[in-house]
Amino acid sequence: MFFLNSLLFLWTWLLSPSKCVLEDFAVTQPPLVPVDARQCTILVLQRDFAFSFGSAEVVQLEPPTSCGPIGSWAAITLNFTVSVNGTQFDRLGIFTFQNVEIWRTSTFEPTRGDGVAWTYIKDVSQYTPLFSEPGVFILQLDNLIQTGLDGIYSTTLHATYYASSPNHPPANKADLIIPISTLANDTGNDASVPPALSRAITLPNNTVQIYAELFASGNGQEEDWYFNVANEFFPEIPDGITFGQGSFREVRLLIDNQVAGVAFPYPVIFTGGFVPSMWRPIAAHGAIELPTYFLDVTPFVPILVDGNPHNFTIDVVSAESNHTINQNWFVSGLLQVVLDSSPLPTTGNITRYEADPFAKASVSGTDRGIGDIDVNIEATRFLHVESDIVSGSGQVTHVVWIQDLQYSNFQTYRNNATVQTLQQRSSGNITSSHNGVPAVADVFSYPFDANFTYLFPDLQNWTSTIDHSYNRSLLPNPLRLATITMERQTTSGFFQLVPGGTNFGNGTNNNTFEYLDSAGNTYRRLVNAAFNNITLDEESGNLAVN
Ligand SMILES: *[C@@H]1O[C@H](CO)[C@@H](O)[C@H](O)[C@H]1NC(C)=O
Ligand SMILES: *[C@@H]1O[C@H](CO)[C@@H](O)[C@H](O)[C@H]1NC(C)=O
Ligand SMILES: *[C@@H]1O[C@H](CO)[C@@H](O)[C@H](O)[C@H]1NC(C)=O
Ligand SMILES: *[C@@H]1O[C@H](CO)[C@@H](O)[C@H](O)[C@H]1NC(C)=O
Ligand SMILES: *[C@@H]1O[C@H](CO)[C@@H](O)[C@H](O)[C@H]1NC(C)=O
Ligand SMILES: *[C@@H]1O[C@H](CO)[C@@H](O)[C@H](O)[C@H]1NC(C)=O
Ligand SMILES: *[C@@H]1O[C@H](CO)[C@@H](O)[C@H](O)[C@H]1NC(C)=O
Ligand SMILES: *[C@@H]1O[C@H](CO)[C@@H](O)[C@H](O)[C@H]1NC(C)=O
Ligand SMILES: *[C@@H]1O[C@H](CO)[C@@H](O)[C@H](O)[C@H]1NC(C)=O
Ligand SMILES: *[C@@H]1O[C@H](CO)[C@@H](O)[C@H](O)[C@H]1NC(C)=O
Ligand SMILES: *[C@@H]1O[C@H](CO)[C@@H](O)[C@H](O)[C@H]1NC(C)=O
Ligand SMILES: *[C@@H]1O[C@H](CO)[C@@H](O)[C@H](O)[C@H]1NC(C)=O
Repeated sequence: MFFLNSLLFLWTWLLSPSKCVLEDFAVTQPPLVPVDARQCTILVLQRDFAFSFGSAEVVQLEPPTSCGPIGSWAAITLNFTVSVNGTQFDRLGIFTFQNVEIWRTSTFEPTRGDGVAWTYIKDVSQYTPLFSEPGVFILQLDNLIQTGLDGIYSTTLHATYYASSPNHPPANKADLIIPISTLANDTGNDASVPPALSRAITLPNNTVQIYAELFASGNGQEEDWYFNVANEFFPEIPDGITFGQGSFREVRLLIDNQVAGVAFPYPVIFTGGFVPSMWRPIAAHGAIELPTYFLDVTPFVPILVDGNPHNFTIDVVSAESNHTINQNWFVSGLLQVVLDSSPLPTTGNITRYEADPFAKASVSGTDRGIGDIDVNIEATRFLHVESDIVSGSGQVTHVVWIQDLQYSNFQTYRNNATVQTLQQRSSGNITSSHNGVPAVADVFSYPFDANFTYLFPDLQNWTSTIDHSYNRSLLPNPLRLATITMERQTTSGFFQLVPGGTNFGNGTNNNTFEYLDSAGNTYRRLVNAAFNNITLDEESGNLAVN
């Protein structure tokens, strides 16, 4: 959809220069932490990411000993505080601890003059087993300093451990967390695909439950994957507008080359996307904490407890005839593993396995010539696996794992492809049950409408309007709370590229956010921005701080 990759849209000028540092933020619920608990805060790292390409920050992190027994904490959070002044692209940040990716973020694009700053608190309580051991903590934030790019990301990362007490019990934790990652010790542990990421993993033979979490985001020719055009129609798109391989993307987890589960990814828009001035000071949903995807791998326990290594693969595929994608996606994953109290091996059988290698998809459209097409891609994915699992201590569990997902993407191009519209719908119902009790549940709907219009054939200025939502009812695994998140964001803006000069832009960004969870926490925020200023901000619910 873009003349150049959206990462190349830079902010170098402000419509109405602010008098002080612009405080950027993402709309999300406050962290669920016991504010009255004893806290131990540790400085994990402090680093100015200037020319940092290939030079991640690698530090040793030890668990604190003065907030109760190690591993008994009620919660753990990370506080990432960043400031930047100058001109710079949005950059991806990969937080890795003990070779496990635990948070994927991206940066706000700065402006020159007063600069921008933000703080984001990330709940990492679900990774307590990793934080209970000393280990290597890595932040990869590949930044470039070169002609025209001088923004240095000055970062500080603190970890806070909250002591547990009768009022605030220890966070639930798995017995083991196993990475599906590159295992690199000097950089972020995500892999660039294609080709696929594969890792041989040997599980303890008394494993009784396994829950996967997948990280996946498009980059380069795949950053705006939802605007990529089906190959059948791609010859009608003028050079430099977008890429081929269609818009459908499915992230797959394979075990010994068989599909174990999939994710239809949420379309994250980074702060250089479409019209960078729309994301000041409010990021698109998911840009600062990228959504992750949860699968129940428990039904595969019967084949994984034989003491042998098994091949876990993460890939990203399209709906094109050979399923290939462009370069690239960054992926990684982890397994939360629950062991039986008995050391005796688990046994069992997979009693039903119904999963096609690829989603069912169809491409259709209308071709009226160069730059004048309609393209429609529709896809469905159904997976159903059942198993009987017998633990060493004699517990018999019947596991049912079902994924039922739908996707459609309708794109129109007019006026030599300078007028573009997109309507994407992605939804699904993912459930697993263990003897009838829900273990993983993810009912989601990610509607995404975007219009993009170049105002002049030189492709130097354009307007865009976006209306997208993140509606998700999620139980990631039985160790965590069930949550409901409903976020709708509507934005519009204008952008003018001035080669060799100062770019110009404006934008509005309206948000309706609602959160509730199975512990009774609620939070609602209405917040609107126009041209860098907050025009409405209302908070309510029992998590509201104001
Ligand atoms: C996060 O850390 C910054 C310093 O890096 C500090 O100023 C700020 O108060 C912290 N925020 C919270 C909520 O702990
Ligand atoms: C930002 O950098 C510019 C120079 O590029 C400098 O003039 C300005 O004072 C800086 N602003 C802050 C808030 O440090
Ligand atoms: C990092 O990995 C490399 C290559 O696998 C290995 O040679 C090196 O010893 C490792 N370093 C540390 C500190 O573990
Ligand atoms: C199960 O694993 C344990 C620990 O690795 C090993 O000692 C034992 O022999 C294994 N049992 C079987 C039946 O594979
Ligand atoms: C269509 O767009 C392409 C690339 O943007 C441009 O090179 C070409 O001249 C345009 N054609 C017409 C008829 O405007
Ligand atoms: C692991 O799976 C991948 C993807 O299916 C395959 O390409 C690779 O050859 C497999 N590796 C092994 C060791 O079986
Ligand atoms: C898949 O198809 C695309 C588009 O036709 C082509 O560029 C690519 O080389 C093919 N890849 C493989 C592995 O066949
Ligand atoms: C698994 O299947 C085998 C062969 O049919 C059977 O002997 C065994 O009892 C089954 N185990 C379970 C836990 O269902
Ligand atoms: C999701 O699927 C489950 C089991 O197939 C069904 O019971 C439930 O009603 C579905 N939920 C929604 C919201 O469609
Ligand atoms: C868009 O750019 C063209 C030429 O590049 C200019 O004539 C036109 O006025 C610009 N539109 C706006 C709204 O600035
Ligand atoms: C995009 O344009 C179409 C046609 O003008 C309009 O119906 C739709 O509401 C627009 N979508 C957005 C997100 O502005
Ligand atoms: C944004 O700037 C453009 C170009 O100057 C202007 O046409 C438009 O009216 C501005 N948008 C708003 C909402 O003021």
